[in-house]
Amino acid sequence: MFTLRCIGCKFEESINDMVYRCRRCGDLLEVQLDLEEAKKNIDFGLWASKPPSVWKYVELIPVFDKSKMVTLKEGGTGLHCCKNLAEEFGIKKLYVKNEGENPTGSFKDRGMTIGVTKAKEFGVKEVACASTGNTAASLSAYAARAGLRCIILIPYGAVALGKLAQSIIYGAKVIAIRGNFDDALVMMIEASKSFGLYLLNSINPFRIEGQKTAAFEVCEQLDWHAPDRLIIPVGNAANIAAYWKGFKEFYELGLIRNLPVMTGVQASGSSPIVQAIKEGRDSIRPVKDPITVATAIRIGNPASWKKAIIAIRESKGLAESVTDEEILSAQRLLARKEGLFVEPASASSIACLKNLIESRVIDRDEEIVCVATGHGLKDPDSAIKSFQEPMVIEPKFDVLKEAIKG
Ligand code: F0G
Repeated sequence: MFTLRCIGCKFEESINDMVYRCRRCGDLLEVQLDLEEAKKNIDFGLWASKPPSVWKYVELIPVFDKSKMVTLKEGGTGLHCCKNLAEEFGIKKLYVKNEGENPTGSFKDRGMTIGVTKAKEFGVKEVACASTGNTAASLSAYAARAGLRCIILIPYGAVALGKLAQSIIYGAKVIAIRGNFDDALVMMIEASKSFGLYLLNSINPFRIEGQKTAAFEVCEQLDWHAPDRLIIPVGNAANIAAYWKGFKEFYELGLIRNLPVMTGVQASGSSPIVQAIKEGRDSIRPVKDPITVATAIRIGNPASWKKAIIAIRESKGLAESVTDEEILSAQRLLARKEGLFVEPASASSIACLKNLIESRVIDRDEEIVCVATGHGLKDPDSAIKSFQEPMVIEPKFDVLKEAIKG
């Protein structure tokens, strides 16, 4: 029911092979699902009665030995109807898919539960990734649960504190390089070949199969339709492609009747995909020294750029950049209006929404879902930096009374 197909030359690799790229042309691979088979075999009615989770959709994911399942109960995250923020922006329907509710606090867990389960199926003993922080935190946790050795490579001094703490406490071998994420990924791809490590960066096609379930959940949570528009942060550029794959599969299975306009967001200091889309180019020009407060998406040469461009073009979508100032201001607004604390990269989707409303690109009647990819507690420093220190008082009741009034 599943094959691995090259997104470039369409060459087919066996689903049972441990490959990340096409062995004929070197392009990225994608899992191909036989939709006619799926229609015959799956009891879709049953889904409606089950609560959302990644493993609820296992029939649409190429996992063959469920006894090898490695799970921390991922997925089933809230799709929060944000009335206060919608009112602030003057739009009718706004939802935030809060992926910070996953076990390690980011959407990466959806991909890792599947990726590490595949690692167990393949019988590997060591897993690895390069990361801006969240992939590392997630892989470290799932590797710990699976009893696998985990090696992660991060850009020195450019990973948020909470994420670093996670990888350390889960017991991964953490190595920092004097270089950026793009350098780290090149080195880790090479290391995985040389030392036989199973690479769990998002060029691994099985990760995408877990991540696509977020789109399935959004459709179910909206009572079996897709939103008009999905706004999503883009870094290494796999998650936007995963959502698009999920929406398309539900559409082709006849479970929804519409597809959303995909809107990818990058930080203005690291926006090669936005530049390519805006200039109508078919390939990206990598950004050499990417810079942004949103360290999760500080990526100048996204590995899955081609998949992201396909998702944006096929959906007649957009790619937009936002400044660091806009990101931090959107982060505060979401926290204060809706009680949702997300990390800066995640707030880029809200910043982009605001800009598109102000420039009248977004219709006020559109139903919009913004994806918040990671929890705010991952990066407490960036949140605290933009505020004053808390007021300090003497332990006297009248002083407290004055402070409360003030
Ligand atoms: N949001 C957050 C919080 C992320 O951590 C990432 C990616 C993205 C968005 C972008 O997703 O790469 O699929 O386009 N973080 C990776 C990491 C690169 O190493 O944790 P993408």
